[in-house]
Amino acid sequence: MSEQSNAERLEELNQQAELGGGQARIDRQHDAGKLTARERIDLLLDPGTFVELDKLVTNRCNDFGMDQKKIPGDGVVTGYGKVDGRTTYVFAQDFTVFGGSLSGAYAEKICKVMDLATKCGAPVIGLNDSGGARIQEGVVSLAGYADIFHQNVRSSGVVPQISAIMGPCAGGAVYSPALTDFVFMVDQTSYMFITGPDVVKTVTSQEVSKQDLGGAAVHSEKSGVSHFQYASEEECIASIRELLSFIPPNNAEDPPFVATDDPADRRDETLADLVPENPSRPYDIKELITGAADDRHFFEVQQDYARNMVVGFARLGGYSVGIVANQPNHLAGCLDIDASLKGARFVRFCDAFNIPIVTFVDVPGFLPGVDQEYGGIIKHGAKLLYAYSEATVPKITVITRKAYGGAYDVMSSKHIGADINLAFPTGEIAVMGPDGAVNIIFRKELAAADDPVARKEELVAEYRDKFANPFKAAELGYIDEIINPVETRPRLIQSLEMLQNKRADGPPRKHGNMPL
Ligand code: HXC
Repeated sequence: MSEQSNAERLEELNQQAELGGGQARIDRQHDAGKLTARERIDLLLDPGTFVELDKLVTNRCNDFGMDQKKIPGDGVVTGYGKVDGRTTYVFAQDFTVFGGSLSGAYAEKICKVMDLATKCGAPVIGLNDSGGARIQEGVVSLAGYADIFHQNVRSSGVVPQISAIMGPCAGGAVYSPALTDFVFMVDQTSYMFITGPDVVKTVTSQEVSKQDLGGAAVHSEKSGVSHFQYASEEECIASIRELLSFIPPNNAEDPPFVATDDPADRRDETLADLVPENPSRPYDIKELITGAADDRHFFEVQQDYARNMVVGFARLGGYSVGIVANQPNHLAGCLDIDASLKGARFVRFCDAFNIPIVTFVDVPGFLPGVDQEYGGIIKHGAKLLYAYSEATVPKITVITRKAYGGAYDVMSSKHIGADINLAFPTGEIAVMGPDGAVNIIFRKELAAADDPVARKEELVAEYRDKFANPFKAAELGYIDEIINPVETRPRLIQSLEMLQNKRADGPPRKHGNMPL
């Protein structure tokens, strides 16, 4: 008979689980500038709230000596706890155990918390740090990944799913984070790629480092795979907590209301001169966003990617809203492929999770060019159009200056379902800018003019007078009200409160066919 009682055995197993791959590997993790899975969970959750599940699960592989290597927990720490008092599910891959590689049992642990989260209506946060498929387990590991992908898709649009990449994430493993709503990365210590530098060199002869191939900067600035990048894990985790403060726990609930001392009727006099008189001069749309937002606080998403489009969360009178805005400071605020994708994905997230959308429009049109056409601006621009059109959450639009051509329609116009459309007196709603328009409709007259330059100036002035203003649109009811820019905040809050009980159902269908 064993001398060890069950209580003693449990104590020993708990200690083994908490030590993961052992002190030497924990030290190596720290030396690499990384925290352990448990340290990360401690930072993420409110103190003392973590409840661990499946702490004693071990791998079920008997090949390559794995029957002798059974570590309780098997390389992933899973469970639930609270973030700002709200239930949140979490899994954290433990790089100290077999490099955080994914076994069949490990995948089952992750699927269990994802399934619980989906049934109970709470977000799932995945903290990723893994060498990928557990090589010793072969196809069982691949099957485990597929089970996670399938559960990611089942949970999509039901509960928010957030991924933080805090170490390696390579091969097919990247697809679980890619299926989630937001991806966070830590600079220098994390990377994501389908195939690593060695394979890239073999196949293409290109030499590239892990960071240059798939580091946080690459995915936050070039590919758009990542939504946030931070210099440290601590900042990254603090930012995940902040993101959760803006979003509801599931698709049947509203986002948390956060009372504010910022008066709902606050005017912002600095906004009076924000839009320059010269229509070609840029300005920073973020000044308008912060001028309107509670406590002037804007939580920007994907701030380093497609900077001609600004997206993120703010609160108005305590209510969480998603902000989508053209940025005249970058590429004149044109819509291009990246901006369309960025905006479309964000609009769809907000719509799935009952977050009203406020859109600020200053867009001279879609970016012209061979690259854009070859790259499919038609189908990508259509995604943004589709996303806005299908969104049933309250939608409020403010045209600050240019709303030209198809981009006017796309950027949450009345015609594709916006509920309230406002414009500043500086709004210009037209098929195209005055220069281009005059060149087309007065081509013959300009060619025959004695002084074509002077005549063009006259015609441009005439066109401006007729079309470069919001009055025609207001006359037709396409614009509900022309507002004083300093009153943007009170007007938005009034509109939002008026739309609180909005209900909108479309015709029944399995799902639409978005132009992917
Ligand atoms: C089993 C693994 C492992 C893996 C690492 N380890 N990756 N064990 N399966 N995939 C183990 C190592 O044996 C080592 O064990 C410990 O983890 C730490 O690994 P090191 O190599 O010492 O660490 P480091 O130098 O930091 O390098 C980390 C690494 C490297 C870059 C992740 O380990 C690596 O390249 N691993 C293989 C990555 C890979 O090719 N995975 C398969 C990708 S394909 P000890 O006992 O020494 O501590 C894939 C398909 C998914 O994932 C398909 C989904 C559909």
